[in-house]
Amino acid sequence: MDTSTAETAKLYREWARVEAHGSSLIYERLALAVAEDLAILEFLSKVEPVKRQPNLLFGALRWHNVPVDKPAVALAWLGEHQDAVLAVMRNRLTQTNEVARCATLLPALAPLPQPFALIEVGASAGLCLLYDSWRYHYTGSGVDRWVGPTKSPLTLSCITTGDVPVPQEVPDVLWRAGLDLNPIDAADPDARRWLQALIWPEHQERADRLDAALAVAAQAAPHIVAGDLVNDLPKLLDQAPTGATVVVTHSATLAYLDQDERNAFITLLADSGVHRLGAEGPRVLPHLTKQIPNDVDINGRFVVSLDDRALALAQPHGRALTWL
Ligand SMILES: C[S@@+](CC[C@H](N)C(=O)[O-])C[C@H]1O[C@@H](n2cnc3c(N)ncnc32)[C@H](O)[C@@H]1O
Repeated sequence: MDTSTAETAKLYREWARVEAHGSSLIYERLALAVAEDLAILEFLSKVEPVKRQPNLLFGALRWHNVPVDKPAVALAWLGEHQDAVLAVMRNRLTQTNEVARCATLLPALAPLPQPFALIEVGASAGLCLLYDSWRYHYTGSGVDRWVGPTKSPLTLSCITTGDVPVPQEVPDVLWRAGLDLNPIDAADPDARRWLQALIWPEHQERADRLDAALAVAAQAAPHIVAGDLVNDLPKLLDQAPTGATVVVTHSATLAYLDQDERNAFITLLADSGVHRLGAEGPRVLPHLTKQIPNDVDINGRFVVSLDDRALALAQPHGRALTWL
């Protein structure tokens, strides 16, 4: 095994242990099988290192309807259809859009003066721009509240801990726009199928939620501009209407940036005088994570922050929210 294949084997073994274990037995087994298969490791050397990630390879297999729950069958198929898999891996990026994050951002958003002009950076298909399209069910800590339109095809359930300021109503959104390096058109069947292929096999609830949310987004067609969240944000901020509170939101996005870019983003927003509302991993904005008491377990949780304050911890896929 040369250095490159040995490194890829290590990547897949680590990924099986850290990412897949406890979340997807199917992917855990498949990643371990890849790590032991020299021919597949050599195949992976044909793509640039950043594209050797399990999520991309496994998404490409599912794109081709390969039975990923049978590692031997899946890898034999891959051995015979390398070009078809390479084409997907070279032309596509891993992508997600988790609508349930709206449930963990809404309690921090709703108390601000309304109506809103919302800009989501890293908007993907724009599902987290459509706060007012979803129905929410908050439970826990003495709360049992339904919020939002009864006719919504999608209910986002969120378990609360602590003093979560659960709103009475969904917010009044006057204007909204998204910004993403790689916007997804929710009305494009190809794009929808790719997003679905990237959901891990046992995560049927997420797949169903994505399906329902994409159908709504296809109709609502939120305006999403292709661009970078630092360089292209000022232009979008200029378009926000007067008479609305401008809030720039982001979730699971700043991890894609290096620390200098994250600092530039935070400074840009502070200088613009608009609100920033985000949910990101605990290592992404260390100056906010520092505000969280040491005895609070932040591992595997997102920090929900508004401007320069950490407000809450959220389960990364929106299922639970703990107010600080
Ligand atoms: C993991 S997805 C999260 C999507 C959505 N915010 C959510 O919570 O479901 C991250 C998104 O950020 C976008 N992205 C990454 N770097 C970016 C940048 N510099 N400028 C704009 N968008 C970026 C990616 O294209 C991707 O759509």
